[in-house]
Amino acid sequence: MRKTLIIGAGGQIGTELTLALRKKWGKDQVIASDIKTEKPTNLSEGPYVALDILNRDAVREFIINEKIETVYLLAALLSATAEKQPDFAWKLNMEGLFTILDLAKEGYLKQIFWPSSIAVFGPTTPRDHTPQFTVMEPSTVYGISKQAGERWCEYYNQRYQVDVRSLRYPGLISYKSPPGGGTTDYAVDIFYQAKKSGSYECFLSEDTALPMMFMDDAIRATIELMEAPREQLRIKSSYNLGGISFTPKEIAASIQEHMPEFTIRYAPDFRQAIADSWPKSIDDSYAQSDWNWKSEYNLSDLTQEMLENIDL
Ligand code: NAD
Ligand code: SER
Repeated sequence: MRKTLIIGAGGQIGTELTLALRKKWGKDQVIASDIKTEKPTNLSEGPYVALDILNRDAVREFIINEKIETVYLLAALLSATAEKQPDFAWKLNMEGLFTILDLAKEGYLKQIFWPSSIAVFGPTTPRDHTPQFTVMEPSTVYGISKQAGERWCEYYNQRYQVDVRSLRYPGLISYKSPPGGGTTDYAVDIFYQAKKSGSYECFLSEDTALPMMFMDDAIRATIELMEAPREQLRIKSSYNLGGISFTPKEIAASIQEHMPEFTIRYAPDFRQAIADSWPKSIDDSYAQSDWNWKSEYNLSDLTQEMLENIDL
């Protein structure tokens, strides 16, 4: 186990990743950090430091002084929020990555995890079972930042032997921490609204299929990738990661199996165009063969987990 820092630990993925890594390695080995000055309540047990990833000097000082060896860099603006502030999204999503990559290049860090996204693909990409290598012309600032980040990860990997690993996460579904401004957030909100009011107004149209994954699978994938022998990993940019694929209409039907009175209506907004530019499903055969990846949760499993565990 190496001393670990999670940057952006107060977010949807960071909360669960911190809890999972602390369970595995002990709470004192895993330092949570976020721009939030208050320690997030879910992370009350274990060390926490308020850090702004854009404060390069402060981040460098902390990592060097604390002898951090592994960083999970999760701070970013997600797709929908990024479209509202493209300049800032580019700054946040890229500058933090360079700060961390450079620390590894200089020998301070041994291993980095940096997440990419299905948003690296664009309207000219084949949308069904999107392969690892294909046309990539993202049309959102978020997708452009993730694609550029992937190219830099591969460059630092090849040129400076930096051990940076990455997954192209699909839309992630969880109940421990809310999502942070993505196009796939509807697939979390729908469960909260179902339990709260019995109905939901969806910002995507009924037949919009997108790749999705239950958070437990995503956390397991992250840890398995980080523990895989480096020589087995052929992909130095970011691995495609498939889970399940469904439409708003299908998730609504899955909820109706538990709550027959649940109703949904559709009012697509600007996020529809983002969703229409992304894959419907993902081919993750490289992840399967390089580090034995296999997802576990299907739509019915995740519906049950969400309805059982959401605490209003
Ligand atoms: P999130 O928005 O829930 O969490 C991001 C966290 O970063 C927040 O707690 C926020 O306070 C923190 N943060 C923001 N600015 C910061 C700064 N300047 N310094 C330090 N911390 C800062 O996001 P998430 O869903 O947990 O996503 C984490 C990463 O995974 C992102 O890179 C995202 O692009 C990627 N990803 C997420 C999904 C998904 O469905 N959640 C899918 C694909 C990729
Ligand atoms: N879930 C993310 C988003 O919608 C995909 O990267 O932005």
